[in-house]
Amino acid sequence: MTKFWSHFVSKLDPYIPGEQPQKEIRLKLNTNENPFPPSPLVLDEITNFGIDKINLYPDPESNELCEEIAKYHHLSKDQVFVGNGSDEILAFIFYGLFKNKKNLFFPNITYSFYPVYAKLFDIDFKTIPLDDNFEINLSDYHHSNSAVIFPNPNAPTSIPLSLKSIENFVALNESSIIVIDEAYVDFGTESAVTLINNFPNILVTRSMSKSRSLAGLRVGYAVGSSELIDGLKRVKNSFNSYPVDRIAQKASIASFKDDKYFKEKCKQIIEIRENFSTNLKNLGFQVFQSGGNFIFTRPPSKNNAEDLYVALKNSGILVRFFKEPKIISSYLRITIGTSEQMDLLLSELKKLIDQ
Ligand SMILES: Cc1ncc(COP(=O)(O)O)c(C=O)c1O
Repeated sequence: MTKFWSHFVSKLDPYIPGEQPQKEIRLKLNTNENPFPPSPLVLDEITNFGIDKINLYPDPESNELCEEIAKYHHLSKDQVFVGNGSDEILAFIFYGLFKNKKNLFFPNITYSFYPVYAKLFDIDFKTIPLDDNFEINLSDYHHSNSAVIFPNPNAPTSIPLSLKSIENFVALNESSIIVIDEAYVDFGTESAVTLINNFPNILVTRSMSKSRSLAGLRVGYAVGSSELIDGLKRVKNSFNSYPVDRIAQKASIASFKDDKYFKEKCKQIIEIRENFSTNLKNLGFQVFQSGGNFIFTRPPSKNNAEDLYVALKNSGILVRFFKEPKIISSYLRITIGTSEQMDLLLSELKKLIDQ
C-alpha cells in the first residue's frame, strides 16, 4: 500500500497466470497453448505484413475481422465483437453487463479470472459448487433476472456440458444474461453459437489463443445479440479505442480462411489427448473426460500431486498445479502437446510415480 494508490488497489486480488519461463525448458504444458504453429496462411500474412502502415492506428472496430467471424458462424457483423484476447472481453462483460445485476453466479471451481474481475469492478457474486463428479449442474443456477457465466468445457476440470443441457437452461432463464466462455470449445465440445439467433440473452466468448495457435497475438471475440454486442462496444470505446493491432487483425482473418488446417490440427490434438489419457489411466491416474486441449488428472493414490508437479518441474517439465482451492489440490492440469511431447512426459511420469 502506498499513499499514491487509489485505495481499492491494495484490496485487489490479481490473477496469477501460469508461469512463462524465461529460460528454455524441456516441455511447457502449463498454460494450454497450442503446440502447433498457426496456419501457413497466417505465417505468410505476418511475414508479408506491410510495415509501412505501422505508423497508422488499426481499424478501431476490427471491421474486416468481424465480417470474417460473422461469415464463419453464419451470423451478421453486428453480432460480433473483437477484443484483445478473450480476457479483455470478459472484463468488458463483467463491467458492462454484470455490474449492478443483483445475482451473478459462476461455479466454485472455474476460470480463476472471474472472481478477479468481479472484485476489480466491485460486483457481488455467488459461486455454485460443482457436483460430486466435478461437473457443472445447470439446474443449480436457475434464477430470474440474474447473470451466469461458465466455461464450456469448464476449466480447469476440462469436463464439457452438452448443447442440449445449455439450451434447456437458456430456455428456462430468458430474463437472465448467460455467458458461455468457449475458450476451448474447438477440441470436441458442442458450441452454443447455434443458439444465438433464438436467444438474445446469451453471449458466447471465443479465444484465438488455443485452437488457432495465436496466444502471442492476443485476439478473442464474442458473439451474441446486437444489443449485447453494442453494450460491449460502448465499454470498449470508453476504455481503449484500438485494442487489436494491425498485425493481429490481419493474421486472425487469415486463420479463418484456412479452415482445413484448423480442423486438422484440432482433430490431431483430440487424438493425442485420448491416447495420452488412456496411457495415464493405465498408470493408475484418474482422468476426467476432456472437451479441451488439456486434461485434469489425479495421480495414483501413493503419489502427491504437488510433489509430482515439483519433480516434473525439476526435470524441466512444466504442468499446472493449483494449491488453492483445496478440493483441486490433489490434481494436475496438463496441456496436450505433440505426441512426441506427451510420450516424453509419460516416460518421465513412469520414472517418478510409485505404483
Ligand atoms: C476458460 C478461459 N477463458 C478465457 C481465457 C482467456 O484466453 P485469451 O485471453 O488468451 O483469449 C482462458 C485462458 O487461459 C481460459 O482458460
